[in-house]
Order: sequence, then C-alpha cells, then structure tokens
Amino acid sequence: MGNLTLNKVCKSFGPVDVIRDVDLEVKDGEFCVFVGPSGCGKSTLLRMIAGLEDITSGDVCIDAAVVNTVPPSKREIAMVFQSYALYPHLNVRDNMGLGLKQAGQPRAEIAEKVDRAAKMLDLEKYLTRRPGELSGGQRQRVAIGRAIVRKPKLFLFDEPLSNLDAALRVQTRIEIANLHRELGATMIYVTHDQVEAMTLADRIVVLRDGRIEQVGAPMELYNNPANEFVAGFIGSPKMNFLNAPALGQPGRSLGIRPEHLTLSRDGGLIEGRVSHVEHLGGETLIYLRADPHGLITVRLFGEHAASVDDRAFVTPDMARAFHFGDDGLRMAA
Ligand SMILES: Nc1ncnc2c1ncn2[C@@H]1O[C@H](COP(=O)(O)OP(=O)(O)OP(=O)(O)O)[C@@H](O)[C@H]1O
Ligand SMILES: [Mg+2]
Repeated sequence: MGNLTLNKVCKSFGPVDVIRDVDLEVKDGEFCVFVGPSGCGKSTLLRMIAGLEDITSGDVCIDAAVVNTVPPSKREIAMVFQSYALYPHLNVRDNMGLGLKQAGQPRAEIAEKVDRAAKMLDLEKYLTRRPGELSGGQRQRVAIGRAIVRKPKLFLFDEPLSNLDAALRVQTRIEIANLHRELGATMIYVTHDQVEAMTLADRIVVLRDGRIEQVGAPMELYNNPANEFVAGFIGSPKMNFLNAPALGQPGRSLGIRPEHLTLSRDGGLIEGRVSHVEHLGGETLIYLRADPHGLITVRLFGEHAASVDDRAFVTPDMARAFHFGDDGLRMAA
C-alpha cells in the first residue's frame, strides 16, 4: 500500500515560512502532480515527504503511520531527481542494483529485478555501459530503473524530464504513464510543464507561496478554477483576464481562455490591433493590443493570415468565461 497523508505540515527555514499548513491526502496508486511558480515550495514539500528535510510542525503519514522522524532509507520511498545522480564509475546494472546490494539482497535476486526493470524501460542493451556512455534520456531511465527495483510504496519525481530535449520528453512522459499503469504505484511528480501536469496527473495540486491553492483532476482545474491564480496557472497559453467593468461585467476581471475567443475583421465585442503573430503550424496565436484590457491572446486552429498592426475584433464565448471578484476568487455565475 502507498497512502500518503499530510496533516497541517509546515516548514520554516529560520524566519522564512516556506510550507504553510499543507493538508493533502494521496490515495494508494494515485498519480499526483505538484505545480506552482518557481520558489513556491514544491521541492521542499517533496523532500519533506522523502525525509530529506525536517518538518517544522504537522505530520507526514504513510499508510496511517506518522513517519516524521523515520529516516529516508526506512520510508520505502524512491526519489528521482532532475539531475540523475548516477555513480559514474558503475555500469547501468550496478547503478540500478546498488540500493538492493546495500540492503543485503542476494545477487541472483538483484539480477532478476534489474533485468525486469531494464526490460520495462528498454535498457537491456545498455546494462554494461557506464552513465558517461549514455544519452540524457537513457540516464534518466536508469535513474527511474534504480527507483523501480526497490519496489517502493511511493515514487517521488522532482522535474525528472527537464534536462531532456522535446522529443525525448514526450517519449519519456509516455513511458512514465505506462510505468504507472503497470506498477499501480503511488506517484508524486513535480513539474513546470503544463502538458506533463495535464496528461500524467490523476490530480493536480497547485501551490503558491507554500500554500495549496486548489487540488483537483486536470480538467476540473481547467474548467472550474477556484480563483484567478489557478485560472492563470493552468492552461497554456495562459488565460486572458479582461477588464470586467469596461465590458459592463461584474467583478474585477473576466477570464477567458485564448481558445474561447473568436477573431473577426468586421466587428465584435472588443476592438484592437494585432501586435504579434505566432504561426505554430497546427495553430496560430494572435496577440491583440486592446486597451484597457492589455494584450489579448487568441488561439486559432490551423493557419491564419494576420499582420502586425491589422485592426481586428475579438468576442469571448461568454458561456466559457469566468468572473473574478476583487479578492481574486471566482464569483457565482
Ligand atoms: N535550505 C534552505 N534554506 C533557506 N531557504 C530555502 C532552503 N531551501 C529552499 N529554500 C527556500 O524555500 C523556498 C521554496 O524552495 P523550493 O526549492 O521548494 O521551491 P520550488 O517550488 O521547488 O522551486 P523551483 O520550481 O524553482 O524548483 C524558496 O524560496 C527557497 O529559496
Ligand atoms: Mg524545485
């Protein structure tokens, strides 16, 4: 089993409060993703769960047992970092089996577990190579393999793919999703990448300044954000926040995603001028300058001809718009 419960967990470094009153329950087998701006406390929280960082107050529980003072090696947790942290002088097989060897497991058993993990991760050809003879993606898979062989209750990943190029990120992301399905293990995964968060997570935890802003399934956060912060953080390109009073709408801002705006040359609710165009092939992003709303991003499917300084109008699909009050919270419809 791998249930994790955080009860009023806090962490201060001297006078600085980095994690504040975090309550969270992660169910056995769940894939939970932590997102939030740089410095919001994602890595610190992960390290507290792993036991690599002391807890200032509150409780970390694994399968209902408080583990606050249990050393990392006894928590049955495996952590995979952005820097692979492999031993350069050991080959892939020995890197993957090292933890088991240190735990005193028999050689034949270690070999069998490493073989199984290597097969799962497509690393069988590389077992006798050293990390220096591998690509970044292969090294990251070795680091994941080293975690798998230990059969941990909980996998913790801290931005494991951020050193990889775009194609390899996609491939490894799919491998991690498959791995989660195959192992049925509980996974907690920190990322900056919107696509990773949306595609991997059963539930996403949005953090800001050491506090949880919202927890929910990816599409729940996308379709039903509790506040302006979550609305702006989930989704890429980011949601537009229009000036609500200028549109005769209630609240401080009217949130509308770039894909929920229509663009027209002839007329519409908001008039502006094209300030920048990005042709991505499958879609086109048009940035429109429209005071008092600022820069409005419009996302159009496929190719679309537009030039800087063109006059254009946008109209929000009001059924998809969100109203936010002065406190930044969602207003009732
Ligand atoms: N040992 C430390 N002493 C003092 N402050 C620290 C220490 N470690 C982290 N912090 C501070 O705690 C805050 C949270 O850091 P943390 O590394 O958890 O952020 P993060 O969300 O992982 O950010 P990033 O996305 O950039 O990795 C930051 O403001 C950081 O400066
Ligand atoms: Mg971090």
